[in-house]
Amino acid sequence: MTDQAALASKLETGVSQLRCIACGAVGEEGAKSVRCAQCGDLLEVVFPGWKTNGVTRAAGLDAAGLKELWLQRRTSWNALDESGVWRFREILPALHDWNRVITLREGNTPVYQLPSCGRAAGVEQLFAKHQGMNPTGSFKDTGMTAAASFARQGGFRWVACASTGNTSASMAAYAARAGMRSLVLIPQGQITWGKLSQALDYGAVTCQLKTDFDGCMRVLDEVVQRMPVYLLNSVNPYRLEGQKTAAIELLERFDWQPPDHIVAPGGNLGNSSAIGKALLEMKELGLITRLPKLSVIQAEGANALVRTMRETGGRELISVHAETMATAIKIGSPASWKKAVRVIEATGGAVEQVSEVEMALAKAEIGADGIGCEPASAVTLAGLKKLVKQGFVRKNEFVVLILTGNLLKDPDFTLKFHRGDLFAGTEHEEEAAEVLVPRQRAPMVLDANANAVVKVLEYAEQTDPRK
Ligand code: F0G
Repeated sequence: MTDQAALASKLETGVSQLRCIACGAVGEEGAKSVRCAQCGDLLEVVFPGWKTNGVTRAAGLDAAGLKELWLQRRTSWNALDESGVWRFREILPALHDWNRVITLREGNTPVYQLPSCGRAAGVEQLFAKHQGMNPTGSFKDTGMTAAASFARQGGFRWVACASTGNTSASMAAYAARAGMRSLVLIPQGQITWGKLSQALDYGAVTCQLKTDFDGCMRVLDEVVQRMPVYLLNSVNPYRLEGQKTAAIELLERFDWQPPDHIVAPGGNLGNSSAIGKALLEMKELGLITRLPKLSVIQAEGANALVRTMRETGGRELISVHAETMATAIKIGSPASWKKAVRVIEATGGAVEQVSEVEMALAKAEIGADGIGCEPASAVTLAGLKKLVKQGFVRKNEFVVLILTGNLLKDPDFTLKFHRGDLFAGTEHEEEAAEVLVPRQRAPMVLDANANAVVKVLEYAEQTDPRK
């Protein structure tokens, strides 16, 4: 038997199922719809095949066996092993043919310590798992490798998504690698050039609709009813399976000692749902013995989850009209809200919201630690500061922020920040001037002579805030 055949026999299809999160009906694998045929709610992948005779194992392996196998694969050149997603394939839904996985070697993202951000937030041990270091610059790649592989297995020629930019960039890349066509619906004028240019470069058919993200989602729902295209938004349950691996990698990186808190940004709420699902499954499989608390942070102007939790106890979605400069999370009606509520409650996490100025300051602080991220990712640090002040996170606790997008996704925001233009003419102008000016480093235009540069250097040295 070849290695691949041996692997396929262990990782049988049928171990997992698609199940509706509301009515529990079992969905049909490979079907076009990503929603429940009975009640229309979202589907999720569950693994009834893990339990036999009261023992929970994946692919016949106990926790120690899984840990050892995954670690061994780090020295392999097999494409599946090189992927930080498929390296963990024992706890992902199985494909019929493992040779047909579409991978850009996603995952394997770094974990960095953030010393000065830790001081700013008031915690001693602060780390960031930087999902912006994925092939297309965002966490979406870990989900897309899974969903695109299942799309190709299902024989789809077209895949589609509505997006605030990162999903579309990622989907376009993976579709191109798979030889599939891709259709992108984005809100006109509300996504960054970096993200738009990626979708174009990877060959997507790109439509800028005269609406917001929520409007794009509504139009796409109708398009997929009428045309043979497969939806790759995070309502697609296979996306979330791939995105689970960020949490698995993180725990492996810390030798399976769970942090006390994981803090993630919330938009459509697929990512936090995926991370939470991974935590619960790792506990079920005995890979960890304790659950980190998963907290989700939103922008004040796009705070549907925060309102939903505070005003209805997580029972009914309160949609909002979204307004924030963090365009990635400018979403008013998050599709995966029920899944997110479930995992936040199960892990004992919190939800919080942050202002535009708080987010901008946090982004500059993450940059100043030599890491950088896009604005939506920075809500995590801004939110953490609040959770520390409230006493929810304690000073000596071990905290990990999930940074979701690369700094270069939105250079416009960063340039405006440093030039001092970000809040010009807005209601936040005064507050911004007070809080942000010490962090601003506007580029200087000088005559081309060394004297001018030396003067700048001397002044910078005299006024160095770190001295
Ligand atoms: N951070 C970044 C950089 C994002 O692009 C997104 C979502 C989020 C956080 C929020 O993640 O939606 O899973 O809660 N971007 C989507 C997109 C909506 O279309 O690219 P979420």
